[in-house]
Amino acid sequence: MASSRKSVTDLILHLHPPSVPAATLRFRLSFGLGGMAVTLAGLLFVTGLLLLLAYRPETDAAYGSILVITREVPFGPFVRNIHHASANLLVAVALLHLFRVAATGAFGPGRRLNWIIGLALLALVLAANFTGYLLPWDQLAYWAVTICTSMLSYVPLGGQWLLELFRGGTDIGQPTLANFFVLHVAAVPGLLIAFSFWHFWLVRRAGGLVRSGEEGGPRLPTVPHLLAREAAVGLSLIAFVLLVAMVWDAPLLAQANPALSPNPAKAPWYFQGFQELLLHLDPVFAVCIWPLLGAAALLAVPFWPGSALPPGDWFGSPRGRRLAAGMFAAGLLLTTGVILLDNFLPVAAGPSGSAWITRGLLPTFLVLAVFAGAYRLLVKTWGAPRAEAVMACLCLALAGLVVCTVVGVWFRGPEMRLVWPLAQGGASTP
Ligand code: HEM
Repeated sequence: MASSRKSVTDLILHLHPPSVPAATLRFRLSFGLGGMAVTLAGLLFVTGLLLLLAYRPETDAAYGSILVITREVPFGPFVRNIHHASANLLVAVALLHLFRVAATGAFGPGRRLNWIIGLALLALVLAANFTGYLLPWDQLAYWAVTICTSMLSYVPLGGQWLLELFRGGTDIGQPTLANFFVLHVAAVPGLLIAFSFWHFWLVRRAGGLVRSGEEGGPRLPTVPHLLAREAAVGLSLIAFVLLVAMVWDAPLLAQANPALSPNPAKAPWYFQGFQELLLHLDPVFAVCIWPLLGAAALLAVPFWPGSALPPGDWFGSPRGRRLAAGMFAAGLLLTTGVILLDNFLPVAAGPSGSAWITRGLLPTFLVLAVFAGAYRLLVKTWGAPRAEAVMACLCLALAGLVVCTVVGVWFRGPEMRLVWPLAQGGASTP
């Protein structure tokens, strides 16, 4: 008994240092979000392996195999529900974790590479979700993947080539299902594991999580102090997921029918922000230029001089918290206002070709001007430190994404018209 306990402790100490700074054990520093992401990934691997025992990746058998899982396999629906709930929670938790890392100044010098690895992990989490979306081969899967892959065709120059690469041809069919299956069960999980270990190692190399006052301060042994906290977060989360899986069934509509498009046909919730952009912008800007600008900003932010907040304090100071909250509120109002304005006062159709200017260049310059103006106002007029201004601008952008996603999920009905969430046809795509 004693020897097996020692071997478990040794295993834990391969992943963690023998002791950790006491300041990093404070729950409100990280809310255990990184640990939650690891727990959810663990649940996904275990339930994914179980689902693989019955799933068949052929277009004429995939839907039937899901019916077998949900109707005949003991605990089949429960395992599928856990997989579905964990996958969606992982997207949300990874986004929250990214936000906490930025808001506690954890992308500064010494942690920049880990921020970039983290962004790669986020891309992989989205890829894992999206490739899994097609596998049930029902109407929801078929049309969501149709919408998302057709967005690729708007990418200038190589768009059609990209679309055919992902679909394995011009249409969605057996080659698409085969591509998505291999990506979902082998390539993406493999990369996710490799990048995760790199990520954990970089946390360890940086001396643990960020903390105020950085170096010094008392240290506590990892076992039991850190271990007890990780177990508490992990087990509570597992209990929560099991509860959700008991009351909330993973969706399964009728078998995929390429001849019958649902109305509205929506992307998965985490891509509905982009689908919302498509309603307001020229497709090249909505699908390519804006997402690239967003990704470039996230990649570059740690290298912007003085962009990292003082480590370990949420938003740096009480003033930083007020600025971030203020900018977030402004972003919510501004984005809602623009969506309503564009809906009820659509820009008059100009000569063909002018959409590139009215729905592309003009809104892009306006948005860049809003960010530049907000940053200048914060730093020059209100005297905020650069890092607090960067964080406030990130909150402004986050608010825009939140509004676009909420509107896309709950407020778009048939023909993607604005509807009240409970109105018929306005239901969300889970
Ligand atoms: C599958 C997705 C991810 C997993 C499993 C994961 C896991 C973890 C874990 C376990 C930690 C240490 C504990 C904690 O901070 O709660 C951590 C820290 C960190 N993560 Fe992630 N992470 C993921 C995604 C991301 C993303 C999307 C970013 C940001 C772009 C990111 C950036 C960082 C950074 C910079 C640290 C160090 C934080 C510090 O020093 O305080 N991670 N991650």
